[in-house]
Amino acid sequence: MTQDNPVSVSREGAVVVLTMRSGPVNALGSALREALRAAFDEAAADPAVSAIVLTGGGRMFSAGADISEFGKPQSGISLPALLDRIESVQKPVVAAIHGNALGGGLETALACHYRVALPSAKVGLPEVKLGILPGAGGTQRLPRIVGPRKALDVIVGGAPIGAKPAAEMGLIDDLAPEDGLVAHAVAFAERVVAEKRPLTRIRDRDDRIAEGRDDPGLFDAFRKENARKLRGFEAPEACIACIEAACRLPFEQGLAFEREQFGKLVSGTQSAAQRHVFFAERQTAKIPDVPEDTAPRPIHKVGVIGAGTMGGGIAMNFLNAGIPVTIVETRQDALDRGLKTIRTNYENTAKKGRLKPEDVETRMGLLTPTLDLEALRDCDLVIEAVFEDMGIKKEIFSKLDRIAKPGAILASNTSYLDIDAIAAMTGRPGDVIGMHFFSPANVMRLLEVVRGEKTEKDVIATAMQLGRKVGKIAVLVGVCHGFVGNRMLAQRQREANRLMLEGVKPWDVDRVIQDFGLPMGPFAMIDLAGLDIGWSRETNKSETVRDLLCELDRRGQKTGAGFYDYDASRKATPSKVTEEIIAKVSGRQGVAQKPASDGEILERCLYPMVNEGAKILEEGKAIRASDIDIVWINGYGWPVYRGGPMFWADTIGLPKVLERLRAYQAEYGDDFKPSALLERLAAEGKGFRDL
Ligand code: 3HC
Repeated sequence: MTQDNPVSVSREGAVVVLTMRSGPVNALGSALREALRAAFDEAAADPAVSAIVLTGGGRMFSAGADISEFGKPQSGISLPALLDRIESVQKPVVAAIHGNALGGGLETALACHYRVALPSAKVGLPEVKLGILPGAGGTQRLPRIVGPRKALDVIVGGAPIGAKPAAEMGLIDDLAPEDGLVAHAVAFAERVVAEKRPLTRIRDRDDRIAEGRDDPGLFDAFRKENARKLRGFEAPEACIACIEAACRLPFEQGLAFEREQFGKLVSGTQSAAQRHVFFAERQTAKIPDVPEDTAPRPIHKVGVIGAGTMGGGIAMNFLNAGIPVTIVETRQDALDRGLKTIRTNYENTAKKGRLKPEDVETRMGLLTPTLDLEALRDCDLVIEAVFEDMGIKKEIFSKLDRIAKPGAILASNTSYLDIDAIAAMTGRPGDVIGMHFFSPANVMRLLEVVRGEKTEKDVIATAMQLGRKVGKIAVLVGVCHGFVGNRMLAQRQREANRLMLEGVKPWDVDRVIQDFGLPMGPFAMIDLAGLDIGWSRETNKSETVRDLLCELDRRGQKTGAGFYDYDASRKATPSKVTEEIIAKVSGRQGVAQKPASDGEILERCLYPMVNEGAKILEEGKAIRASDIDIVWINGYGWPVYRGGPMFWADTIGLPKVLERLRAYQAEYGDDFKPSALLERLAAEGKGFRDL
């Protein structure tokens, strides 16, 4: 074999060990598949070989099919055909699994006659997360080995499982010691040979699938249980149908059904969107002018200023990761309240069994509450999370400049304000950066890292890496009002408001946005956040719908009424009072009443967002269109099966988006004025994906 061969072959007595060596994750691309076929053919034909062990070199067994090959013409042997070949070898084939065996990787292991794994290994069929299904026999083999009920959880849930629970399910035959996987697998193979055990092929088993035949209602029960979570997605239903088919049809027919369903999904828009998201998430870490090997500053201790909802949530991220936090407030009662909220949050998690009771104390033990800003002196990173008032933020940063140790990173959690103006209050603007968390900050995955004009590269690298360390998806953005997420949100909010004044009911706007796949519409979102953010009876002048709602103490969910009325369990119903207020305001402003179709509502709310995204790109405030998609998916719940606003616009076609923006511009003015970038891309027949 040449050095470039992605499969290396070695011999342990009469057992051949085939080791996959392809890139970081042993993705089963065409070269690896071809090499595996050749290696299996050779080992099968060699009379001196008694058994075959298949394992992965590097970090893992295999992460599955090569996702970047999807949508391209296939070359070489297909994965299902390769697995057929492996399964039909007339000698025991043992998979030796470490790291991950995911998707096609696990399917490959399921085509082997036995599976041995390290206890630390993880196995799973995460295809559903890419908008597809296990298309190399996974939906047919897995139920035959673990039963349809567990197969539904594994395939439709998509989450990897540890080797130990997998062994309990019967998916793994034997666990190996952490330092001796291959030796253990070889010994296992020798035992199988010595004992003349028959070659068990999963395809021949039907004991476990009897459960599905005896209780066909289990599939509908599963559908019902998961309906909310699966809303809008195509792949989960196809997965369920395939597992149903596994119980009903002979193996070959089930396999053909799986192939057909896989083909439909893989050529569809949802899968393209979800694959886009997979790669987009990984792209965010790449910053052209900050080399990957930039050494981050060590962060052993974090300071958080403000123990309100945001500050508390931010602190929890670090406590969860074992990093001590000093949290500062101005008043004892506010500090006590903040601490109590954090503790209650942990206790509730422990009650649900998702945190060990002793860990509540461990985490609280890492938290130092104080009223003294000077206590931040030894922190490596300080995050300011007080309310959005530039005056107060400037004052805090000038104090921090005096207090913080040299080299400490000074971050603001502002969601709108100018980081450069804040940085200018210090003698060390290179150490200042924005770290914009999304509420609830201990739950939402998005972190907008805001790069100021003078922010040092190692400060950027630190914030990005630390974000990942505490489980966030960090996206680098530039300074502008509202950064990427809120700047685009403002467009939608403005247009939702305009529609409302034209007589479209807020609940109709919300319904359209929710049907599109977002978790809630613009008005439900304001009710949740509170209508009185930035509102006061003294300064606001009874002009807008919001003013009038707030004056009636309809301040959102928290007061039991906002745009909607809420019952004790916070269930929303449309409100007559709101309707009357809207009619009054639009009458006063002389807004012409006109109905809008659902299609128009959607376009008017979302196309200006896409247009704003294009402006953000033009101005260099986001590095790439896919970063904007990641912001919207992880910060606002944009449906992952639509790939983010920029990807979605590409699927519609930019000429169409442009044409509609122009039409609305003619009617409503320059709020809809197409950006130069959108004009150019549409004219060149390109999309945001081509940037
Ligand atoms: N195909 C192509 N490239 C892949 C890949 C795959 N299946 N899995 C990972 N990669 C790439 C990543 O894009 C990344 O590339 P980059 O360095 O250029 O950004 C590189 O490999 C390393 O990946 P990660 O950064 O994600 O590495 P981690 O160690 O953090 O995570 C992992 C490892 C958990 C295996 C994670 O990569 C993962 O979840 N991979 C995808 C698993 C998956 O979805 N498998 C199903 C594939 S579809 C399939 O098998 C269809 C079949 O049923 C027919």
